[in-house]
Amino acid sequence: MRWLTLLFLVAVVHGADVLRLDPLVLRLDLAPTEAVETTLTLRAPAGTTITAISTDCACVRSLTTTPATVPAVGTLDLRFRATGMRPGMEDVVVSTTTGTVRAQLQLVGPGAGRGLDQLRAAAQQATTSGWRLLGIVHALRGTIRHCTCSSGSLAGAGRIARIPGLVRDIAPGLDATWVLSGDADGKRTGLGTALTKTGWRLGDMSVRVADDPVPLLATPGVVAVIPTGDASVQHRRIVRPVLTDGMAVELLLVDAAGAIQARRTMPVDDSLPDDPTLAAQFRDVLTGTIDLAANPSQSCITCHATAGAVWAQTRHARALDSLKPEDRTDTCITCHVTPVAVSVVAPAVSCQSCHQGGEPHAASQGTLRTTGTVDCRSCHDAKHHPAFRRELAWPKIQHGGEAAR
Ligand code: HEC
Ligand code: HEC
Ligand code: HEC
Ligand code: HEC
Repeated sequence: MRWLTLLFLVAVVHGADVLRLDPLVLRLDLAPTEAVETTLTLRAPAGTTITAISTDCACVRSLTTTPATVPAVGTLDLRFRATGMRPGMEDVVVSTTTGTVRAQLQLVGPGAGRGLDQLRAAAQQATTSGWRLLGIVHALRGTIRHCTCSSGSLAGAGRIARIPGLVRDIAPGLDATWVLSGDADGKRTGLGTALTKTGWRLGDMSVRVADDPVPLLATPGVVAVIPTGDASVQHRRIVRPVLTDGMAVELLLVDAAGAIQARRTMPVDDSLPDDPTLAAQFRDVLTGTIDLAANPSQSCITCHATAGAVWAQTRHARALDSLKPEDRTDTCITCHVTPVAVSVVAPAVSCQSCHQGGEPHAASQGTLRTTGTVDCRSCHDAKHHPAFRRELAWPKIQHGGEAAR
């Protein structure tokens, strides 16, 4: 299973202009007195120069001297020495001439550094100090697939679902807020909403995501600001989640004045219990049953016959046909099908794959407008269609300018 995950990661990062560290999370099992030398691989365009390597703990030290240049093969091994003296998640930040990349070393000692231990410690510290707890998962994106900690493609989300309830059990009186910031749905429409039933919120005024964090730092009510860009500004309100995709929860301990007093990164790992019922609560393209007869476009075609006739001629209408039966897996079907209902998918890129708000629009006989179209690049991405150019592709599927005909 580990190897499969690893192979999948390697497949994903095998692209031209990637800049990333592999693995994204490296778990090291160390006793407090132990030390190891370990390697992270930097993937970057050949010729990229590493200007600096920093870590946030003396327990992780870079053994690679900078500046260093990525050779023609596009990868460079970076060596680190880690000791088990402080279990937890430690950031590794690599600054290069083509951007900044991050990874984390998860130092797991006996009984320490695991998700549940971090959660317990944070809840206890907050209770003792009279602070409140603010937990943030940034950019869940419905793709909890890369962490070797979860057993299935949804295990991470199921574990996230249990966290608010767990804290109520561990620290009954504690004031805790759980926020999903950024995209909580991704390819799993409804995942974020399903999580709101367990105590998570879809966004909160106290947690803001911004290109430029500076104006928000002094805004009343704002506790944490997550910068989207490469903002180099340092401030205690700035939170930079290294691990997205639901692989970790940022736990912030907040005092009565709204200042962050302490923070912990809690890995979403198998020390946390799972909620197996979560999967049944949202439309999941990735684990859904393929219904070959389902045609969600039909409901649109009754009024948009011309658009329907154009669409039927495109490969979007037969997108599943390209996948061999053995390829109709989690990894592959996501862009080749459309979610229809909870756990049922249709075998095509349908009108609803691109047009948002289609259902209320159809139900209102066209009175309510659709709410927009998705970015072609969400499927025609750098890995699956590197040569994609929207201006060349759009004419091949163009069906606009003839609404309701
Ligand atoms: C009952 C008839 C009817 C059905 C069913 C219907 N539409 Fe429409 N649609 C209309 C009408 C009428 C308009 C023109 C509205 C206008 O111009 O104000 C329209 C306009 C649109 C537009 C352009 C305006 C906008 O809302 O952005 C899009 C896109 C669209 N429809 C997509 C769809 C999709 C996708 C479906 C299926 C989920 C669908 N329609 C189902 C009647 C329908
Ligand atoms: C992120 C979205 C996405 C995922 C995931 C995805 N595909 Fe595709 N696939 C596409 C797009 C977009 C195209 C159209 C590319 C083109 O026209 O060149 C495509 C086209 C194809 C084709 C037709 C290629 C051709 O040139 O006729 C095959 C076969 C295919 N995909 C197989 C797979 C397999 C196997 C997997 C899983 C390993 C997979 N796809 C996963 C988006 C995706
Ligand atoms: C691959 C994505 C995609 C698919 C699939 C798709 N559309 Fe569209 N559609 C678009 C885009 C993009 C536009 C242009 C909207 C814009 O840019 O204003 C558009 C435009 C339209 C318009 C005209 C809007 C206007 O203002 O003139 C209608 C109506 C429409 N689509 C209906 C449909 C119907 C019905 C289907 C299914 C039979 C469908 N579309 C399938 C992406 C798609
Ligand atoms: C939900 C995922 C998805 C989205 C969004 C999407 N596509 Fe595609 N597209 C596909 C897949 C998958 C294929 C390949 C289908 C196959 O052959 O299996 C494809 C194929 C195509 C093709 C080849 C079609 C043909 O008949 O020759 C064109 C052109 C194209 N897409 C244009 C677009 C454009 C333009 C947009 C944005 C307006 C878009 N697509 C959005 C998934 C998507």
